[in-house]
Amino acid sequence: MIAIVSDLHSNLEAVTAVMAECDRLGVTEYLCLGDVIGYGPDPVAVAKIAQTRFAVSLMGNHEEALVTGKHRFNPHAAQAIDWTRRCLTAAGGDIIPWFKERKTFALRGRLLLVHGSIYDPVHDYVDEPENPIEAEAMISTLSSDFSGFDICFAGHNHTPFLATTMGVMVPHDAHRTFRVPKGHKAYVCVGSVGQPRDRDVRSSFATFDGEALTFHRLAYDVATTQAKIRAAGLNGFLAERLGEGI
Ligand SMILES: [Fe+2]
Repeated sequence: MIAIVSDLHSNLEAVTAVMAECDRLGVTEYLCLGDVIGYGPDPVAVAKIAQTRFAVSLMGNHEEALVTGKHRFNPHAAQAIDWTRRCLTAAGGDIIPWFKERKTFALRGRLLLVHGSIYDPVHDYVDEPENPIEAEAMISTLSSDFSGFDICFAGHNHTPFLATTMGVMVPHDAHRTFRVPKGHKAYVCVGSVGQPRDRDVRSSFATFDGEALTFHRLAYDVATTQAKIRAAGLNGFLAERLGEGI
């Protein structure tokens, strides 16, 4: 079984909790859709986990900002990426060169992996499920132009949902395992491990065993991460939002 994780955002408590749960579930391989760093207080530790444990770790927009210095971030995201760059530079080793080598998409059999979307794999936001027209357009583009793939996994929007030709489904605790019928396309937003934004503070990730796709939510020690963000001198909003899931 594989785990698909995204948007870890230097949140070591969330990453540690998710990986312990994945071990319990029998996950044998991790595929990461990008944004390993940015916003959070533990960039070095989380980057080392990505380097050593993930079979795939894509270029997200925060990795891109880290290695190019170019971005359109709001002030607190910009402050955080500059702070992250200083931490990773001070740590030395090969972490920043490793981030420079990240690919913007990956292909795994019938799976296509991106950070943003099929239109722009690094930056494009797939709108939340309130905008099903965009998801429909995505599915139809997947069908017409990406015939080699059945499922596209994406991160970036920090909100989990599944779009198929049958409609858009938002996972919740009572109903969270889906099977994509043969011949159908699916667009899977896995949500965020380290900074969920769907007003659920728990980490979000997905597992896939070749047939069943399962969305997971997992509580972690939010208060510790918040305290570390404040102690690092990062913007207080970055701590507050973890407690609200925004
Ligand atoms: Fe992100």
